[in-house]
Amino acid sequence: MTTPESAVEHPDRNLALELVRATEAAAIRAHPFIGKGHKNEADKAAVDAMRAFLGTVNFEGLVVIGEGEKDNAPMLFNGELVGTGTGPKCDIAVDPIDGTSLTAAGRQNAISVIAVADRGTMLDASSIFYMNKLVTGPEGVGVCDIRKPVGENIRALAKAKNKQVSEIVVAVLDRPRHEVLIREIREAGAGTRLLLDGDVAASIHASSRESRIDMCLGVGGSPEGVVTACAVSALGGLIQGILVPRDEQEKQKGIASGLKMDYVYEATELVRSDNTFFIATGVTDGQLLEGVRRKGPMIRTESMIIRGRSGTIRRIIAEHRASRWS
Ligand code: FBP
Repeated sequence: MTTPESAVEHPDRNLALELVRATEAAAIRAHPFIGKGHKNEADKAAVDAMRAFLGTVNFEGLVVIGEGEKDNAPMLFNGELVGTGTGPKCDIAVDPIDGTSLTAAGRQNAISVIAVADRGTMLDASSIFYMNKLVTGPEGVGVCDIRKPVGENIRALAKAKNKQVSEIVVAVLDRPRHEVLIREIREAGAGTRLLLDGDVAASIHASSRESRIDMCLGVGGSPEGVVTACAVSALGGLIQGILVPRDEQEKQKGIASGLKMDYVYEATELVRSDNTFFIATGVTDGQLLEGVRRKGPMIRTESMIIRGRSGTIRRIIAEHRASRWS
């Protein structure tokens, strides 16, 4: 027997305030590993902490985007149910640390992230590792299009933002695969911000008002694309993604799981609901969020919650008693 729609509980505002405890916990547990050179240990500490906190929240979260397949990831694997099992049924995407290498190296812009949406509405893109993404703020909606040449998009965005092309800043992951893209951006007259890692924070920054980044372009993780969509749509920005299989085998796996190749996924297909929450806590300092810091007997965290339905952005500064985390 199917449950009538009126009886289905949807994620609500309080849920986001509960879930922020899980990103805070992941960030706090990753803090001792910042700059220590051990990325797997940092990730494990964050995963363990996030999972423990998720287990205390009254909801039934289906991990659509997690740490990978069950056999490779002992916890927070794709398909796992998290939460107490009572309360709203949701899809959940978790990235206990986006920027594990940044954390291990002690570099900026690592964040801990959870995105939530109504059950059955998040694209499960996990079988294809990479996605080519275009992200801008609200001014790029109806103006930029991932199918158009890079230079054309940059000029159109500059016009829409009433800026000179030379003032436009495009964030791109600094990878050999982006050599041509980086050249095209510069030939168009715009500047680049080359990212070592962490395109979620950069994309959200690009879609925020008053940001110093105007656009985020290039190939990054496809799960990160879906997570990003939860925030960018709420901010009224533009996100488009094209899946980029690494080889024929991955392509066939993607097709078998219902994914479309050579196809532009719009925000409304990456997440088919506006009842979304994007929740993030800074691990290391960054333009989006301040990282975890120890202040005497307290540990301070900065988090943000972006609510899809209202577009509200809440910033939460929390002071945690360090003795409870030792
Ligand atoms: P993790 O920290 O979760 O490994 O992700 C970091 C990241 O930079 C993402 O932000 C980005 O989408 C992806 O990796 C890019 O992948 P690659 O490093 O293979 O280019």
